[in-house]
Amino acid sequence: MTRLYEDLIIDIPDYPEPGVVFKDVTPVFADARAFAGVIDDLAEHFIGYGVTKVLGAEARGFMVGSAVAYRLGAGFVPARKPGKLPRKVVSQSYALEYGTDSLEIHADALEPGDVVLIIDDLVATGGTAVAMAKLAESQGAKLAGMGFFLELDFLNPREAIAKDVDVEVFSLVHVK
Ligand code: PRP
Ligand code: ADE
Repeated sequence: MTRLYEDLIIDIPDYPEPGVVFKDVTPVFADARAFAGVIDDLAEHFIGYGVTKVLGAEARGFMVGSAVAYRLGAGFVPARKPGKLPRKVVSQSYALEYGTDSLEIHADALEPGDVVLIIDDLVATGGTAVAMAKLAESQGAKLAGMGFFLELDFLNPREAIAKDVDVEVFSLVHVK
C-alpha cells in the first residue's frame, strides 16, 4: 500500500509547551485508508511472532494497539494513567518529553506464558515504552517487540530503550 499516511501528520510548534513540536496524528486515524494502512503495516511486521497480548498506553496507544491486537488475533491490555483501573494494579513511573507520569495495568492482566507486543502511536523519549516493557516483564511475560507508527529519531528513543530493555523496535515513519 502507498505510504499515504505520512502526509497526514500535522506539526504543531510549541505545543504543549515551548520547544516541543507536537505531531498531531489524529488526521491519520480519521482517514479510513490511512488508518487501515497503519494498522495493517504494523500488524504485518509482527505476524509470526506468537503475540498473545498487545499492551498499549492511554490514550493514543489504545487507538493503534487495540486495532493491531484484533488484526493479530491477540488480546489487548490497556496501560492506564493512575487511578483508572478498578482492581489491583502494578505501576511504573516514567519521564515524558513534557513532564512525568505513571502507568498501571491490572495485576492479573499478563502472565508468564504471555508474549507481549508493545504498541503506541509514537515513540519520543522512549519513557512510555520502557515503562510498559517493565510492567510486562514484572509479570513474567516475554516481550515480542515494540511497534510504533511514528518514531522521533532526533530524541534517540532506541538508545534510551536499549539501556533498559533488550527488544526489537519497529516504526513505520521516522522523523529525523
Ligand atoms: C504520547 C504518545 C506516547 C508517548 C510517547 O502520549 O501517545 O504514548 O507520549 O512519549 P515518550 O516516548 O517520550 O514516552 P501522552 O503521554 O502524551 O498521552 P496521550 O496518549 O493521552 O495523549
Ligand atoms: N508525545 C511525546 N512527544 C510527542 C510529540 N512531540 N508529539 C506528539 N506526541 C508526543
